[in-house]
Amino acid sequence: MSAINYTDKIPNNVNLSEDKTLQRALEHWQPNYTNWWKDMGPEGSNDYDVYLRTAVSVDPQGWANFGHVKMPDYRWGIFMNQREEGRTVNFGEHKGEAAWQDVPGEHRANLRRIIVTQGDTEPASVEQQRHLGLTAPSQYDLRNLFQINVEEGRHLWAMVYLLHKHFGRDGREEAEALLERRSGDEDNPRILGAFNEKTPDWLAFFMFTYFTDRDGKFQLCALAESGFDPLARTTKFMLTEEAHHMFVGESGISRVIARTCEVMNQLKTDDPARIRAAGVVDLPTLQRYLNFHFSVTIDLFGADESSNAAIFYNSGLKGRYEETKRDDDHRLHGRSYTVLGVRDGKLIERDVPMLNALNEVLRDDYIRDSIAGVNRWNKVIEKAGIPTRLVAPHKAFNRKIGTLAGVKVSPDGRVVSEGEWAQQASQWLPSEEDRAFVSSLMGRVVEPGKYANWIAPPPIGINKQAPDFEYIRFS
Ligand SMILES: [Fe+2]
Ligand SMILES: [Fe+2]
Repeated sequence: MSAINYTDKIPNNVNLSEDKTLQRALEHWQPNYTNWWKDMGPEGSNDYDVYLRTAVSVDPQGWANFGHVKMPDYRWGIFMNQREEGRTVNFGEHKGEAAWQDVPGEHRANLRRIIVTQGDTEPASVEQQRHLGLTAPSQYDLRNLFQINVEEGRHLWAMVYLLHKHFGRDGREEAEALLERRSGDEDNPRILGAFNEKTPDWLAFFMFTYFTDRDGKFQLCALAESGFDPLARTTKFMLTEEAHHMFVGESGISRVIARTCEVMNQLKTDDPARIRAAGVVDLPTLQRYLNFHFSVTIDLFGADESSNAAIFYNSGLKGRYEETKRDDDHRLHGRSYTVLGVRDGKLIERDVPMLNALNEVLRDDYIRDSIAGVNRWNKVIEKAGIPTRLVAPHKAFNRKIGTLAGVKVSPDGRVVSEGEWAQQASQWLPSEEDRAFVSSLMGRVVEPGKYANWIAPPPIGINKQAPDFEYIRFS
């Protein structure tokens, strides 16, 4: 079951050839997907041979397969973790029942919505990142971008398989619509806000893969707990791919910081103007990018109080992060959780029923995980002997969703007036000028083993390849 069948037109480990109707439907969707990739995938890349990792089985060893591939020929397919015998629903009203192999009729609409919302983020990020190849700081980075892009494409396949297999005609229509929406499009945008933002430069890309792909991790972890077993098994496998995306973000920002600190020490200055003149990103600009990506991403968890979150949990569709490792009753009736509110222009803490606050519970778990990585970045600065530290902004900063959307809060958590916000915003969020400066650094470097001036080389190559390895063969 874990081995992947690559002889089928659609690689899979779900015995697709045994269900001819489903196989035909997906083979019908496949060329539409390829057309979407050619239109909206990485710009100008269709003829490149890219050193990519392809899954050959869902076992941990199955990841060892690396080779040069033209991206439109990448073997996108349908992979799921193995079925766990005797798995049960682990939370909510159905706790203890056998996990569902088919969609329970009563939960059909909610499950479809969950799967479509997750699925929509996957092609969206490919669209957001499609111009970045033109300004890659190295072959190594370009290859990592493309690896992420093909895997997001595969995540779309994962969700489309569930839609086709379990949701009949509605599912097939949703699968088509996933190829029709476009990130940032006014008439037919992607579903979630952060996935309609631009990813205009590589600093934004590394922040996105650190923060926003980590939102992906937490959403997938919550879905990996689902009582709907095919969703749980699919998302568990997706998580193995997501780990690499966050690695690209975390190590990318680390390398930017390392290079900046090197220049600061050479010039013996912390003056942003002099640091910029030397062609690297000053730390205050990095902090503003961090503030932006952090705040936009935590909005993705949804409103702090949400009856949908309660319904998804009660009905066993979406659990908490590490649900089965928690020692409570996994039903949560009568329990409360502290969320932030606003009263008389001040932030206050309020206790609300935990079931309604599950978005906030997941957001708080996410925030803890993100801050751990910010602290690792600070170690790089500390090691260089520079006193500046990066900090995650307050949870209420720059929010557009939920209770906190109604109030202006500084990164350090003070409620501020509209006037102060307008005056300070360019110190707190990337300004036009910041973005123009960062964009001015983005020149394409693709000679093997060479790196743009603003970023340090990685300590080790992909799959331990030599520093001058040709990750991309342009033709
Ligand atoms: Fe993804
Ligand atoms: Fe991802």
